[in-house]
Amino acid sequence: MMSDLQLPDGFTLLTYDHIDSTNEEAKRLAVDHAPHGTIIFAKSQKQGHGRRGRTWVSEPGNLFCSIILKPDCPLGEASQLSFVMAVSVANALDQISVGAIKSQCKWPNDVLIDGKKVSGILLETIQHQNQQLDGIIAGVGINVMHHPSEKEFRATSLIAEGVNEVTAESVLESLSDHFARWYAIWRTEGFQTIRYAWLDKAFGVGDTVKVQLASSTYSGVFESLDPNGAMILNEDGNRRHIAAGDVYFDQATLENAV
Ligand code: BTN
Repeated sequence: MMSDLQLPDGFTLLTYDHIDSTNEEAKRLAVDHAPHGTIIFAKSQKQGHGRRGRTWVSEPGNLFCSIILKPDCPLGEASQLSFVMAVSVANALDQISVGAIKSQCKWPNDVLIDGKKVSGILLETIQHQNQQLDGIIAGVGINVMHHPSEKEFRATSLIAEGVNEVTAESVLESLSDHFARWYAIWRTEGFQTIRYAWLDKAFGVGDTVKVQLASSTYSGVFESLDPNGAMILNEDGNRRHIAAGDVYFDQATLENAV
């Protein structure tokens, strides 16, 4: 279904009341030649999913959307889009709350308010057998009205943080504007500008973290982002560059979050 939300030039919106997952629908449409800039927006999802196959609880009232992107770039650069999206989400939330909240970006692709997760981003690639990149799906979930009571990662919603008179639609309009702007900056200036913008909003740089990978866990100080977006973890003077993983901060860092 087409929708009448205001979107920036070059973006088209498809709205669904119910869907399995906006990322899955985006993949189906992308294979069926849907153009760059197609946004799939659903009011609820039955099989919303997150990173590492986790379930993304998808109650009506929250924002679930996925954007089909067809950047002309090698596969190795495509992961930079999660930082483009994280900065866009953070800017959208700051704008919507008129400065009442300060959102922060948690490596690699979450957005937090007061140390609690308000948004998650899931990038998926669409590739032919020859390793050529056919497209990227950037899926975003934002807790507008509800948030799960997870034990592993503390979560929150815009409503719980006192941001009233906000809807999934108004968040999507703002997010689309910020994303269009940051995407254009990424294409013209490259990743370094995005990297600085992300670091400016980063959560926990300089703090001690634990990073869990598929089969190992590392501890150290989160020093910075490297030029490709990998976390630089300082383990007693040894610098390890980590491309992906789950990051855990200690309780004091989370409680002192602003
Ligand atoms: C994460 O934090 O693990 C990423 C969560 C991504 C959830 C969004 S909701 C819209 C889109 N559709 C999905 O099935 N997942 C993403």
